[in-house]
Amino acid sequence: MKTVFAANWKLHKNPKETREFFSEWKKVFQSRAGAQVVFFPPATNLEATSQSLEGTEIKWGSQNCYADVKGAFTGETSAQVVKDLGGHYILLGHSERRSLFSETDEMIGRKFQLVQKLDLIPMLCIGETLPERQSGQTFQVLKNQLVKGLSLADKAKSLAIAYEPVWAIGTGQVATPEQVREAHAELRRMISEMGFSETTPLLYGGSVKPDNAKELLAVPHVNGFLVGGASLEVPGFLKICES
Ligand code: PGA
Repeated sequence: MKTVFAANWKLHKNPKETREFFSEWKKVFQSRAGAQVVFFPPATNLEATSQSLEGTEIKWGSQNCYADVKGAFTGETSAQVVKDLGGHYILLGHSERRSLFSETDEMIGRKFQLVQKLDLIPMLCIGETLPERQSGQTFQVLKNQLVKGLSLADKAKSLAIAYEPVWAIGTGQVATPEQVREAHAELRRMISEMGFSETTPLLYGGSVKPDNAKELLAVPHVNGFLVGGASLEVPGFLKICES
């Protein structure tokens, strides 16, 4: 299984800044057989990303999509267009989508089904809030998000899961290696119990930085990272990808 280093740029950068980032990135990044880098720029920068990364091993995708490919859905992003532009992945169920845009597990499950149907790879984000962790509900929350998010999934097709404790996202409060070990061992067990491939990548996300990446990557069943803030500058993200 390849180690996946995914960059979630959220609502940052314009097309010009995107092109500048990739032109620098291509000068310094050496692709390795055991690692896969994936960029998730904002939807307005997908074409700039597609053009910048054409002919490279680097993969990319959108941060969200709608559950239909076209129609009267003002403001949404079409997974078909992501595919037409040469994208490979779609991020689904990020905690900001769930908390700020009221996405439900059911909606996420429908999007997941469409993304797989188009032969794109859905990267499903799951994670507990601080009150949920403090009241001992972490595993129940993760199981619920997995079962509902994957309810329409095709087990024969590719997928990736990103475990992102909500309290660790953008806070600088990274989960401890022990907390990550416990969650990833349980997620690995749940995923295989549900009949998904043992080689489904399980990423960790939430305040991953160049100085904690190595330690977290050494945790069993951590197959990569989903990185927000630290993926916006070339040197920092490069260091994470080399950890
Ligand atoms: P962060 O974000 O690395 O800035 O904590 C991670 C994410 O939201 O995917």
